[in-house]
Amino acid sequence: MSDALSYLVKARPDAIKPYFTFLKQAGTHLDKKTRNLISVITKVHAQTENGFRQYLSRALRDGATPHEILDALLMAFPALGLAKIVWAVDIILDMDIPEFHPELLDAEPQWHEIALTEEITQREISYRNCDGRSLFVYREDNEFRVYDSRCPHQVTNIPHLALENGVLTCPKHEWTFNASTGECIKNGNRPLTQFEWKIENDKLLAYW
Ligand code: FES
Repeated sequence: MSDALSYLVKARPDAIKPYFTFLKQAGTHLDKKTRNLISVITKVHAQTENGFRQYLSRALRDGATPHEILDALLMAFPALGLAKIVWAVDIILDMDIPEFHPELLDAEPQWHEIALTEEITQREISYRNCDGRSLFVYREDNEFRVYDSRCPHQVTNIPHLALENGVLTCPKHEWTFNASTGECIKNGNRPLTQFEWKIENDKLLAYW
């Protein structure tokens, strides 16, 4: 929420709180993905960059594909016009989201080889690059966790340097995560995205 809205909630609660209740209740008959796609379009229409980044990450999290997001933007052309669509695509390019890379747009989910299990140190989190994606990998005995390095808030690529004493802190708005569980422990409310994993021929594989 913007500072201005936070201020109005405090200064004029009777006027502003019903507005938020209305927003919450609107769209209850739509699934999450559709709601988020509509919010993406409204953020582009209003050209609110933070809101756009936030709802774009929510739409992806709730199952929208990059093609669906691009279709939603293009279908809204009569309302948005080309200039706002280009504004939105510039932000998408700036976010450098792997799924939007042209060579990955049509990629089907599949297993990816991360590393030999013997290369992964016990009770430590390591940073790895694999097939166009950055990951944090944690191991405890023969249990693994494979996290997307993309922050669940606004898809910022959390760098290796963000790791300190078993805690990961996103540099953008300082959401902080327990690296061994992925839980958000400060400033935010969503955990790191985890990928399904398996061991095959002594190698750790992850699915995305
Ligand atoms: S993008 Fe906002 S905390 Fe990571």
